[in-house]
Amino acid sequence: MKNRVLYGLVVLLFFSVVQFNISDTYAGKIDYKKIYENQCRKCHEKDGKGTKRGKKLEVPNFTDFEWQDSVTDEQLITSITDGKKKMPKQGHKLSPEEIKAMVKYIRFFKPKKRR
Ligand code: HEC
Repeated sequence: MKNRVLYGLVVLLFFSVVQFNISDTYAGKIDYKKIYENQCRKCHEKDGKGTKRGKKLEVPNFTDFEWQDSVTDEQLITSITDGKKKMPKQGHKLSPEEIKAMVKYIRFFKPKKRR
């Protein structure tokens, strides 16, 4: 009887741990705002149009409708992971999930209408 209670507790503990991990990964726990703030903003600026420094390095304007339409998610993932010209690679700093989240974040800058 004692063993059964113990077994039950172990099972309960196991499932709560598994559940915790799942919700941690999938329930939007990646803080892309913080990543952007810390690692991207110095070139791309909060508004996605680029800082002075970024513009010198020729960052694209993330709020440009045509630019958004001209790039695929796959391309952006590759550029962020491996870098592109003066864009520093991030693959060693960010996980693949975080990089995907950053692509989503960059898509938030797309205007609703062509201007
Ligand atoms: C040192 C400045 C710098 C930092 C920091 C930086 N970038 Fe960039 N980024 C650039 C430049 C410059 C380009 C333009 C590359 C080119 O010539 O096409 C660029 C381009 C991009 C592009 C477009 C790639 C394409 O395929 O056209 C994306 C997406 C991007 N950056 C995302 C990010 C994200 C996300 C971060 C932070 C994790 C980041 N960048 C940090 C300078 C920077």
